[in-house]
Amino acid sequence: MLVEDLRASKAQHLAITGDLTQLGLDSEFQDAQKWLRELSTPSRVSLIPGNHDCLVADDWQRTLHRWHEFMASDDTSLNHPGDFPTSRIRGPVMFIGLSSAVPTAPFLATGSLGRQQRQRLREMLESARERSLFRVVLIHHPPLPGGYKWRKRLVDSRATSEVLRQSGAELVLHGHTHRLTGMSLEGPGGKRIPVVGLSSASAGEVSPERAARYSLWTVTRNGGSFRLQHRSRVYDAPSHRIREGHDWNPLQDQ
Ligand SMILES: [Fe+2]
Repeated sequence: MLVEDLRASKAQHLAITGDLTQLGLDSEFQDAQKWLRELSTPSRVSLIPGNHDCLVADDWQRTLHRWHEFMASDDTSLNHPGDFPTSRIRGPVMFIGLSSAVPTAPFLATGSLGRQQRQRLREMLESARERSLFRVVLIHHPPLPGGYKWRKRLVDSRATSEVLRQSGAELVLHGHTHRLTGMSLEGPGGKRIPVVGLSSASAGEVSPERAARYSLWTVTRNGGSFRLQHRSRVYDAPSHRIREGHDWNPLQDQ
């Protein structure tokens, strides 16, 4: 139902921040691949993996490689987990896809980027800034220190947020928490970087803060800068309808 609503919205590009599987099984990857192909064409979907998609260290070809066409950079390189970050440019917007998904010990749902990915992230952010692109960073785990429970945290959140703080970004989107949340970081020149946690789009919850929801972002050029606006569409379980999510805007009160 939410997917039908999303199609009707005519969004130009879709960003998905991971956890399309529960256990990371081969059959789940195949089901998700089919779902993604029905959702839209690969050039219109930018996907990154979540921790559930990497619960066990399985063969890349049997797992994440099945989603290659939705994750690959514009130059199509992505044949190995080490190929993150990815980059895709659509109009004035650059999507930078990170992978914080790593296998963990039982009962942990932590993630990390690692030194190499953080260094590449820094280079990409600075190169995109020189080209005046609107930089959207996609990461599954919340990137701010203390942003989530200890056993579900991004282990290198301090170093990651330092990269964002120093190199800047126009929007950071994360998943993992299943709630629409708004935080921010102070970037270069004191400019605020919105760090937004996205809701689950498949939750069966009734409470407004945990209900299935997707966000619609509008980026408009405004002279030498950009204007960013947010709307959301929520599944209202009691009425079994999709409604406008006026209840919460993650860009306010940061
Ligand atoms: Fe997760």
